[in-house]
Amino acid sequence: MSDQKIKLHIESLTKKYSQKEGVENIQLDVYDQELLTLLGPSGCGKTTILRSIGGFHKIDSGMMTLDGTPIQNLPPEKRPTGMVFQSYNLWPHMTVYENMAFGLKLRKTPKKEIDRLIKKMLEMVKMSGVEKKYPSQLSGGQQQRVAIARALVLKPSLLLLDEPFSALDAKIRQQMREELKRIQQEAGLTIIFVTHDQEEALAISDRIAVMNQGCIEQLDTPDVVYDHPASRFVAGFIGEMNFIREEDKEIAIRPEDVLIEHGSGAIVQQVMPLGHYTQVLIENDRQETIKAYIPKGGSADFQPGDLVTYKFNRVQEFAVKN
Ligand SMILES: Nc1ncnc2c1ncn2[C@@H]1O[C@H](COP(=O)(O)OP(=O)(O)O)[C@@H](O)[C@H]1O
Ligand SMILES: [Mg+2]
Repeated sequence: MSDQKIKLHIESLTKKYSQKEGVENIQLDVYDQELLTLLGPSGCGKTTILRSIGGFHKIDSGMMTLDGTPIQNLPPEKRPTGMVFQSYNLWPHMTVYENMAFGLKLRKTPKKEIDRLIKKMLEMVKMSGVEKKYPSQLSGGQQQRVAIARALVLKPSLLLLDEPFSALDAKIRQQMREELKRIQQEAGLTIIFVTHDQEEALAISDRIAVMNQGCIEQLDTPDVVYDHPASRFVAGFIGEMNFIREEDKEIAIRPEDVLIEHGSGAIVQQVMPLGHYTQVLIENDRQETIKAYIPKGGSADFQPGDLVTYKFNRVQEFAVKN
């Protein structure tokens, strides 16, 4: 990735609200045609970064370039960015066509061209033929497709998506992920995607910036963030993790790295089949509960009450601050 062209460059971005929450000293490069996710718990500053890029509030300090041009002093309508929010994106009193044509009309695009672009974009998001419908006649997922199409019809250089699927049902959310990935690849889009859902981030991203309390704690590919979390916070936030305290440190073990066999030293508390794997909770002689994942058809059957031995395939250590 590092040999790729930088699309968006953010340097020392700080934006604080009255109570001193916000984000501080954010450094971030987004590559051309990359899907980069800002991931973190609610309130960690994801939307603050997105609004700073889109120009929807004044930043305290820092600088941003998009395609090499400084943007931090431009009003939002002059920035080559498009934004889609969690919900309420479409104007309810306008048809899909009117919603999508609005920005193009402001740009004095000829009617014929508007029609052509709208048709093309609706095709891309698999919503052909809904031009005359009102938002209330569409499902939530369909509305979000149209909202994405409406942003894309203006050909933004950078697409900003703020938890666009969080209000949708799990099944639709998963479909939308796959669709977004396809659209991104088809159209060669650069996207900053915001979510608090680590599974969604792992599934969709080229790179993930994991945020905590206004800072980026780690920025890397999903594999690296999962396999080599840079901090205790990242280790706990992404995926499932066992933490075991050992004097001045904590060791972290993924459930798939816990190997158990019939033997002694621990007792099986609970066995839960979860489709392609089984979750087994064991308790060791220090009364610590450890979660293990066993692949389906992988090894011996376990029942609650069984005595087992366990070992860890791979561990990570984190210092404990006292
Ligand atoms: N307009 C605002 N005024 C005051 N505080 C705000 C405002 N917007 C966000 N905050 C605070 O800033 C922090 C970061 O918010 P936000 O960027 O919305 O987080 P996220 O999108 O990750 O949930 C939170 O503590 C939030 O309460
Ligand atoms: Mg937010």
